[in-house]
Amino acid sequence: MPAGPLRGSIAVPGDKSISHRSLILGACAVGETRIAGLLEGEDVLATAAAMRAMGADIDRLGDGEWRVQGVGIGGLLQPEAAIDCGNSGTSARLLMGLVASHGITASFVGDASLSKRPMGRVIEPLSQMGARFTPSPGGTMPLMLEGAHPAVPIRYRLPVASAQVKSAVLLAGLNTPGITTVIEPVPTRDHSERMLRGFGAQLEVGEEDGARVIRLTGQVDLQPQDITVPGDPSSAAFFMVAATLVEESDLTIRNVGMNPTRAGLVGVLRAMGANIEEIDAREVGGEPVADLRVRHAPIEGIEVDPAVAPSMIDEFPVLFVAAALAQGTTVTRGLEELRVKESDRLATMAAALEAIGARVEEREDGLTIHGTGGEPLAGGGPVATHLDHRIAMSMAIAGLVSRDGVEVDDTTPIATSFPNFMMLLDEATR
Ligand code: S3P
Repeated sequence: MPAGPLRGSIAVPGDKSISHRSLILGACAVGETRIAGLLEGEDVLATAAAMRAMGADIDRLGDGEWRVQGVGIGGLLQPEAAIDCGNSGTSARLLMGLVASHGITASFVGDASLSKRPMGRVIEPLSQMGARFTPSPGGTMPLMLEGAHPAVPIRYRLPVASAQVKSAVLLAGLNTPGITTVIEPVPTRDHSERMLRGFGAQLEVGEEDGARVIRLTGQVDLQPQDITVPGDPSSAAFFMVAATLVEESDLTIRNVGMNPTRAGLVGVLRAMGANIEEIDAREVGGEPVADLRVRHAPIEGIEVDPAVAPSMIDEFPVLFVAAALAQGTTVTRGLEELRVKESDRLATMAAALEAIGARVEEREDGLTIHGTGGEPLAGGGPVATHLDHRIAMSMAIAGLVSRDGVEVDDTTPIATSFPNFMMLLDEATR
């Protein structure tokens, strides 16, 4: 039987992107940075361990409360062992950027999923800055990185819309003399820019021929900060979709980050007919935040504009679940990047949804999904998650609207980004 309604009020954990950056930038400032609301998921803990291995003093003071004693720009130490990024592409790419302009050598390792993901996208610009890489065949991890000191500032136009690549180059620019420039034809999440400014970096954002141009002056000291991390919209996404789909739901999700470079899913769900109300819009830690009241509503399939993809890049798996229950057909395009996430999210979601009775067509750059019009899916499984937390959580949400529920082959990856997901889902459906 499909699940009961989602009701009451929940708060999702801290934003993963902002949490990684809080630890990294805190470690690059001289003095004590305090962080409240840090996401204590495995990905972020991998970044904390890496920054400790490179000399920062990092302590957990309480639930989400952390203290970072930074070493200052240029002050990173040679790590004694390989930097283990686990499942986390953000740790890998951001930390490679940071190391690239320090005179240290580090090897980067990760799990089976991360070891398949492309690193050429950071190797290329960071090599131009002078860093030397010895990757595994195919340009993947494990890899060895010898930083350049001094590194050379570059002007780099991003060939893929990737906040991780942008951030890697900017972090390398912190310890590079002169001005490092990143040109971003398609805007991606701008947490690095906001936070670098907050830490006192000299960073300007302009526009040239319709592209965003970010200029960072290197070797300027960062000032330690008190940071409050807003709730992660990518975690809230699972509950937005669940409350939309399950009849009689009326759920408030508190403290959700609403940065326009992240909030694309809200607009797309509304365009499908979802009832999402923003309450008490405010600012937390330099980021727009709101509580979201989500009530069940019947939804319709739409054509999703490829231009919104970067602002909801991690939310497509759960959008596909919504589409599977919508009235009519949903078409998504321009999603090639989903093939190089923690899993190939187009292939993995197509297979998982088909296995539980949804009608899905997979194309090279997106999925076309024919919805049930609100009728529950058959359910079943076990579906394969391929070490991908967002597939596991999306299929758990699909289970709420499936006759026989959905069995997921492996739920352990959920701990990388949302350790209390199951608990909150129980709480909301109780
Ligand atoms: C992230 C950027 C995105 C996103 C990832 C987190 C970040 O990756 O998918 O979950 O924190 O910068 P890409 O840069 O590969 O698009």
